[in-house]
Amino acid sequence: MRPGMKLLLATTILWAAPAFAQQAPTALSGGPTVADPAKWPRTASEGLIDAATEKFVGELLAKMTLEQKVGQMIQGDIGSIKPEELRKYPLGSILAGGNSPPLSGNDRSGQADWVATARAFRAVAMEPHPGGVTIPLIFGVDAVHGNNNVIGAVIFPHNIGLGAANDPALIRRIGEATAAETAAAGPDWAFGPTLAVPQDDRWGRSYEGYSEDPAIVRSFAGEMVRGLQGEPGTGRIQKGKVAASAKHFLGDGGTFNGVDQGDTRVSEDELIAIHGAGYPKAIEAGALTVMASYNSWNGAKMHGNKSLLTDVLKGRMGFDGFVVGDWNGHGQIPGCTPTDCAATFNAGLDMAMAPDSWKGLFESTVRHVKDGTIPMARVDDAVRRILRVKARLGLFEPARPLEGKAGVLGSPEHRAIAREAAAKSLVLLKNNGVLPVKAGAKVLVTGPGADSMGMQTGGWTLSWQGDGNGNELFPNGETIFAGVKKAVEAAGGSATLSPDGNFTSQPDVAIVVFGEQPYAEMRGDVRTLEFQPGDKQALGLLKRLKNAGVPVVSVFLSGRPLWTNPEINASDAFVAAWLPGSEGGSVADVLVGDAQGKPRTDFKGRLSFSWPKTAGQFTLNKGKPGYDPLFALGYGLTYARGGAVPALSEEAGIDPSLGNTSTYFAKGVTPAPFAFATDSRITRKTVDGPQTQEGAQQLVWPTGPATLRIGGGDLDLSREANGDLSLQISYRVDRAPTGKVQLSMEGGANKGAIDATSLFKGQTGTWRTAKIFLKCYQQNGVDLTKVGAPLVLQASGPFGLSIADVRIVSDPNASICPGAKP
Ligand code: BGC
Ligand code: BGC
Repeated sequence: MRPGMKLLLATTILWAAPAFAQQAPTALSGGPTVADPAKWPRTASEGLIDAATEKFVGELLAKMTLEQKVGQMIQGDIGSIKPEELRKYPLGSILAGGNSPPLSGNDRSGQADWVATARAFRAVAMEPHPGGVTIPLIFGVDAVHGNNNVIGAVIFPHNIGLGAANDPALIRRIGEATAAETAAAGPDWAFGPTLAVPQDDRWGRSYEGYSEDPAIVRSFAGEMVRGLQGEPGTGRIQKGKVAASAKHFLGDGGTFNGVDQGDTRVSEDELIAIHGAGYPKAIEAGALTVMASYNSWNGAKMHGNKSLLTDVLKGRMGFDGFVVGDWNGHGQIPGCTPTDCAATFNAGLDMAMAPDSWKGLFESTVRHVKDGTIPMARVDDAVRRILRVKARLGLFEPARPLEGKAGVLGSPEHRAIAREAAAKSLVLLKNNGVLPVKAGAKVLVTGPGADSMGMQTGGWTLSWQGDGNGNELFPNGETIFAGVKKAVEAAGGSATLSPDGNFTSQPDVAIVVFGEQPYAEMRGDVRTLEFQPGDKQALGLLKRLKNAGVPVVSVFLSGRPLWTNPEINASDAFVAAWLPGSEGGSVADVLVGDAQGKPRTDFKGRLSFSWPKTAGQFTLNKGKPGYDPLFALGYGLTYARGGAVPALSEEAGIDPSLGNTSTYFAKGVTPAPFAFATDSRITRKTVDGPQTQEGAQQLVWPTGPATLRIGGGDLDLSREANGDLSLQISYRVDRAPTGKVQLSMEGGANKGAIDATSLFKGQTGTWRTAKIFLKCYQQNGVDLTKVGAPLVLQASGPFGLSIADVRIVSDPNASICPGAKP
């Protein structure tokens, strides 16, 4: 047992007993095979079948070669396939993963590069196919809050905010705008809506779900599908629309302990009632595709679950479109690898997402069909479904009225919808009367999120994890500060941006924008719900302002509710703004009054996730036993209907050191649970870092080998390694190494070391940053599943090194494998 564990258990009893009780694995009846498909809802769908399309598809099928059929069942990622490879490997689909650039090579590109990419792949796919027929490609992308991969697109609030807005008709309009912006850039298919019903807020994908409440998810599911695809019915989808993908089927929001891609341990009844809530509506609205989930249900991977994919989804629910897999998700089925997996197709997956594994998967699948491991009837069913979708989408016809069209991405109409949505998503948690900001007020705008498109748009924006997104990458949007400034000036006041919160002339009020840094899958998973455990930077800023007599309005940007009692106490008003997207002006629409000091728009947002009273209430969900939130599902104040919040307890109720898994050294501090240690022969002193006074450790090696070690944590970094994440070290060489410098991690059975000498050569005396792919550690023999020390640096002295910062980051384009094979 780790030292922190005892404390956790003790505080659990005090604070979080009910929430924690639900964490224990329970023996469940039923699953992983459903007991009876007839328990599941039947949909009122008329289906996607129409005689003319079926005849057309049947004729094509009869002419296709086996290789062509298998090709339809495999999707490659544009980061790992070139258009010309489609001649030899006739794949049915391509996707652009979150980090995958268009052919221009720059992941952050505009419409023209994306259109050129779509056309280049399509042109090869449409060449006459020797011995077979010509089948168009379907091109998919994670357009999950607008067409978020493309510079210039309107970025809508993430789903958690839309849940708070709770306006199904608005969801449809967002879907329509997203379809147009997606089609205008080339793709035919948006990987959404996410119909997860997140039950453990530690899950880093919580924000991709509309709500913890299945009723809200149910009320949105059909609307988003209709928005993306148009009205359901047989025959063609209207031009300019795109295929939707209801995801992730099934149980993603129930992943155990909120760890991404884990096991969902719930009864079949709960799987139906909670996690399945949105699917019948999505199917009735004609969803053309459903994406299988990474998670398991009671121990069995969904990508291999025939009873759910085939018997329930296609059988009972009458789903006539195709089931696509998730990113190498098939490779996680026991006995499968990303390049070889008959089991997934036999279970009912129709198209495997095989981003970088498509070639191997194609070859092995052809073999499995030839030797009968995959029955021909199953192949024909899968291909029929895929062709049906392609025909319905109109991909066999050349017309693409929106593709390449100017003025679609970032249009004023779309921006207005995003602004309305973001304004409606704001939830007022506290207001001592400081809001609305009064006419003529002198407003200080501060905090790390005040002027940051990156923070307000979050993950799945221009890159997978959403990091590194500067304001210049958002030509069609504005920051929260920019919006506040316009509104305040229009009401006769003034607004100043102060990055650090300092001011020269006393403001009437401060708007402080802070919250979580962008994240997506896996990297967003946390171990407790405490905001900024150990390092309460935002709280420090709020308190400084309060002490200076400035009334404080907090605007909190986050992908989930977090324990923020100290920050709420230190605020006169507190607004949960979620991840509002590119229209920062939305915040001012609600917060800043008119020239008469009256509100211009009232708050409409209501919590779609319960807000915790302690940092240990991980599975705080309405209707669950022991439900004791700080603010219940549905809570939200308005100007018309205020409500005071008394002083809140500042006991987190949980060991804060459990919260940190990715920052190992920062600003001169080694945050818990990590510890900085050196061999006694290394001399060590505190020096100034590149940004912070006394923010670094300076180390001087003796003659002979000695080691620096940052230990603690008990981390599993294997998924981070697969996701191309890196260990970032900010350092300065004070004296060049005379011998070898090795980097390692410690903990697992296999130890290995990277020769990192090259990183420490060259100029001395200047601060630099190295980003080392975690996978380099694996390649050099480190077992990343049980890391007890994330930084072990051994040098055969003499050597002089100062270290300022060590943490995990996602920046594949700037990362390397030093010295070794890549
Ligand atoms: C995610 C999906 C996404 C896919 C393609 C996966 O890792 O789970 O939601 O659609 O990648 O980027
Ligand atoms: C994501 C992709 C992303 C990739 C990066 C996947 O899990 O879903 O969209 O580009 O990881 O390696």
